[in-house]
This record gives sequence, structure tokens and C-alpha cells, in this order.
Amino acid sequence: MNQSDAIRNDSADGEVTGPCLIDVFTCPLSVKPQGMDVLTTGLCQVLEDAGCPLAVDVHHRLQFETLLTELSSKFVNVPASQVDSQIEWGLRRIVELLGIDRSGLGQVSEDRRQLVVTHSYQLPGIPPSAFIMLDSQFPTFARMVHQGLVVRLPDDMPPEATQEREYFRQVGMKSNVTIPLMAMGIVVGGIGFSSFRSQLRLPDEFIPRLRLVGDIFTNALARKRADEALCAKEQSLRQAKDGLRLLATKLLNSQEEERRRIAREMHDDWTQRLAILGIESAKLEGCLDTQAVALPILHNIRTQLVSLSEDVHDLSRQLHPAILNDLGLVEALRSECACFSRREEITVDYVADDVPENMSKEVALCVYRVAQEALRNVAKHAAVNRTAVNLAVINQELMLRVQDHGVGFDPDSGRILAGVGLSSMEERVRMVDGEFSIYSEPGHGTTIEVRVPLSGSPA
Ligand SMILES: Nc1ncnc2c1ncn2[C@@H]1O[C@H](COP(=O)(O)OP(=O)(O)OP(=O)(O)O)[C@@H](O)[C@H]1O
Ligand SMILES: [Mg+2]
Repeated sequence: MNQSDAIRNDSADGEVTGPCLIDVFTCPLSVKPQGMDVLTTGLCQVLEDAGCPLAVDVHHRLQFETLLTELSSKFVNVPASQVDSQIEWGLRRIVELLGIDRSGLGQVSEDRRQLVVTHSYQLPGIPPSAFIMLDSQFPTFARMVHQGLVVRLPDDMPPEATQEREYFRQVGMKSNVTIPLMAMGIVVGGIGFSSFRSQLRLPDEFIPRLRLVGDIFTNALARKRADEALCAKEQSLRQAKDGLRLLATKLLNSQEEERRRIAREMHDDWTQRLAILGIESAKLEGCLDTQAVALPILHNIRTQLVSLSEDVHDLSRQLHPAILNDLGLVEALRSECACFSRREEITVDYVADDVPENMSKEVALCVYRVAQEALRNVAKHAAVNRTAVNLAVINQELMLRVQDHGVGFDPDSGRILAGVGLSSMEERVRMVDGEFSIYSEPGHGTTIEVRVPLSGSPA
């Protein structure tokens, strides 16, 4: 068997010790692969037996190329959650292949003063490395690493690098090779290979390959960081969205409360006072002579008072539909459709099929409000004189559909551009765990559909 210089692991007294590449590669018959590996292993063996000085070297390269291919294919699609474990697996494979004692990956801290070892693999009994203070603990080493140079210890340490030499002596490290990790031209860390039992001599041609390994790890770590940053952003977006939803819910609730208060005021006070005025003016009318000039004027005032009272009543009912509590959703909607039809001169085809009345107040109010706003939108935007409102129960869900065959619109831009109607409908429906859908297209009418589960407890 030929002694190769490709990777030597020389002990202090010059003997070859420990498992290393050379041991593995010069015994190709113990290697089990089939196909190409068998062929190349066989060829190497033949060449080696024939005394070819290149045979072992070729075999080393082959092994390393295989590791590189393995690492590349493993890391190409590695999910962020597995990057750390895969790097550790890679470091272990390198330790085994190079026959060294420890391999670690360190990342330069934000202030660039520490090299924090984030991934490491070492043989049993070998001390792990945590972090090193670059500038204060290892000034010479730090300078070289920051310059992006490959550092071989102790060879590259000048005699004045006393701190590094002392550290070596203390931890019992015989040699170390550190390859800088670069990202966009900046040193972001290093990957180190250490021997404690013997001196490791890596031939120069292995350096670019180890740099490649470093690149693979650096890319994976960058991807992991990007993934984590994305997750953090998504999380804060989710929180902001939740906060907005909470605010919208509070706003809708307080709006509803305020409407209720004004409606009560209008109903209990204004309409009563208007009614008294109507009665008084009727009395006055009765006191006047049938030929009195003031009689038609007074009559007109009384008619106006009645009409004003109806309008106030209508508005109060719109603001807070007491009828919802008294007669339930089906009748409240029927009345709303009738009022809308009278007010806007748009025919409403209202159909309510087998809708139970014992639904929760929240669901009833939500559906009522959505129908109100959908009808308002028909009057404001659809340019039609007919619309349909349908209330039904389908698969335990209450379904409301308001449909027109008017001008239609693009729902995506409609939601972004205009007022608060569509978004408040959507928000209300979300508050009762329902689904809100808009089907519309310019020139092809609009359908608003709401589905709310009826499983909740009734009012
Ligand atoms: N039935 C419809 N027919 C045609 N366009 C509609 C219809 N409903 C909504 N739209 C379009 O969608 C936009 C958004 O409606 P939304 O109810 O959110 O706002 P708005 O009615 O303009 O204002 P607000 O409801 O705040 O008073 C409208 O401006 C309109 O362009
Ligand atoms: Mg609107």
C-alpha cells in the first residue's frame, strides 16, 4: 500500500495515527458501493497495485466529490427547519472523511467582534468550541479571517501571535484550518477543521473544495435567515391584522350601540311629539270655520306632520330595527324591502324559504344589516329598477342573497377604492363566523351572498 501525502495525519513522533482518508482509501476492497464506484474503486486498486503514484490521490478526490454531490443535493431543497441538523450532519461527514477530531461552523456576530460557533461536531473526548472573541482573544487570527484568508494553524501564525499560540497549547490543539465563509463579498463566518491528537496537513487542492462546502452551508443559512425574517414579518402582519379586526369589531359594536340610542330617542320622543302636534293641529282644524282661509294651510301642515312622523319612524326603524326583536328576521326584512321599494322606487322580489326564527340576535342583526347595505348599494350604484332578496336555509346555514342585473363592477378594485359598505358587510359576517361573497362583473350585475352557520345558540 502506498503512503500518500494527500492528507497526512502525523503524530508528534511521526507515526500515522487515527482513522483518516488515507486508511479508508487505500483499502478500496472494503468499500461496498456498486456500479461506477465499484469500477472506479477497482481501477484505483489496479493502479495502486501497479505502483501508480496518482491512484490514492484520485481516490481521495473521488470520495470528496461524492461528499460534495451528497451535500449539494441534500441542501438544494432543505427546509429552513432542517438546515441546522443538516449542517451538523455535513460536519460529521467531513470529520469522518478527513480523519480529524473536530469541525465547527462559526458565524461573525453583528458587532463583528465574536465568532460564535453555531454548529459543531467533535469526536468523543474532544472539547467542543463555543465562541471566540476575535479581536481581543485572537487578534492575528481575526485579522486574517476578516481579510477572507484561509488560516492554517499553527503554520500561519507569526511568532508574535502569542495569544493564539498560548490558546493552542492550553486546549491541546495540534492544528486547525479555518476557511472563511463569504456572503456577497463580506466575511460572515468561518468553517474550521481541528486536530487534537495529531497534526493535520491538508493539501492545497482541498481548500477550494472546502470553500465550496462553506458556500453550501452559507447559502443554506442565508435561506434559513430569510425564511425566519419572512415568518417574523408574517407574524407581525397577522398581529396587525388581528388588531385591526378587533378595532373594526369594537367600532361596529359601538356604532350599533349609538344607532340604538338615537333610534330610541327618535321613536320614543320625536315621533310622540310629532303625533301630539298632529293631534293639536287636527283640533285646531275642527275649531275653524269651514270657509276659513287658514283651513287649507292648516290641513297642509297636518299632512306634512304626518309625513314627517312617518319619515322619522322609518329612519328610526332603519337605525335600529326593533321589529327584528318583535317579529324576527323574516318579517323585519320584508318590511325593510317594502320601505326600500317605496323610498327608492325599485321593485324588490323578496323570498324567504323556511327560515327558523329562533336564531341568535347577532346573526339576525348581521344579516339584516348586510341586506340593508346591499340594497343601499343597488340604489346607489346598480342603475336598475328591480332587485331580488332571497333568504333561505341550506345545510344548516342561513343564506342571504341580494341580486341585481345592473351595471356590475370589478369586486377587487371595488373593495380597494370605495367606501366602507363592502368591508363593513364582510366584517360583520366574519364576526358571526360566516362567509361573505361578491359575484360581480362590469355589465353583468351583482350578487352579494352571505352564509352564516345556524348552529349557534338562539337568542
Ligand atoms: N350592486 C352594485 N352594483 C354596482 N356597483 C356596486 C354595487 N355594489 C357595490 N358596487 C361598487 O362597489 C363599490 C364599493 O361599495 P361600498 O358599499 O363599499 O362603497 P360605497 O357604496 O361607494 O360607499 P358607502 O357604502 O361607504 O356609502 C361602490 O362604490 C361601487 O362602485
Ligand atoms: Mg355602499
